[in-house]
Amino acid sequence: MSIQALINQEMASYLGQSAEVEPEPLRRLRLASRNVPNARWNLNPHTCNFLRLLIRLTGACRALELGTFVGCSGTAIALALPPEGTLLTCDVNPAAVGFARKFWARHQFGGKIESRIMPALELLDELTSEEHRFDFAFIDADKPNYPVYFERILALLNPGGLMVFDNVLWHGRVAAPPVGDAYAAALASFNAILRDDRRVESVLVPIGDGLALIRKGGEGI
Ligand SMILES: C[S@@+](CC[C@H](N)C(=O)[O-])C[C@H]1O[C@@H](n2cnc3c(N)ncnc32)[C@H](O)[C@@H]1O
Repeated sequence: MSIQALINQEMASYLGQSAEVEPEPLRRLRLASRNVPNARWNLNPHTCNFLRLLIRLTGACRALELGTFVGCSGTAIALALPPEGTLLTCDVNPAAVGFARKFWARHQFGGKIESRIMPALELLDELTSEEHRFDFAFIDADKPNYPVYFERILALLNPGGLMVFDNVLWHGRVAAPPVGDAYAAALASFNAILRDDRRVESVLVPIGDGLALIRKGGEGI
């Protein structure tokens, strides 16, 4: 279920129909991956369109992604980047990344993408030690680590850079995390961290399962 289902079914289909038609490669990838295990993890078309718009609006050139899966969000990001743009993405699931790599190898925009099979924290260690810098980051990996990813990526972002975290409304359960729902509790506390952090400007957007948009450069930066 997405947050759209909380709005109501009529509004959910209205939003779906109002979304710009997906670019052809993204439509084909979605179709080709519809039977892979956990295909529901693919970012929906409405949210992919929103990511592409954000990248174009910010003029981002160097992008980072945590949580590749079969490559839907990565494809959306790469398509929106300028020709000289680059996306570095990682995932711990070799089968899913293999699927994404095969698809990207058949497309010119795939040349913008470097994908790694490794835990996000290890990649962040490497990027930190090599002093890499990014304009944009999309984070869709293990949710309990969101606060750590936030701190680590904040240090890697250029001033004015944008981080986008997925699933921050966790099917609407963050408002009153049910007892025993560790993810809802973790995401609710992550959202509170963002609200109180003066190094960034952030807003929670009820698109898909909820996106946190976080711009580096609040008070004092
Ligand atoms: C929801 S899926 C990502 C979907 C993808 N962003 C998309 O929309 O097309 C989450 C992915 O995070 C990966 N993941 C989980 N823990 C991870 C970690 N510690 N480091 C890197 N990837 C991880 C999973 O293997 C899974 O493929």
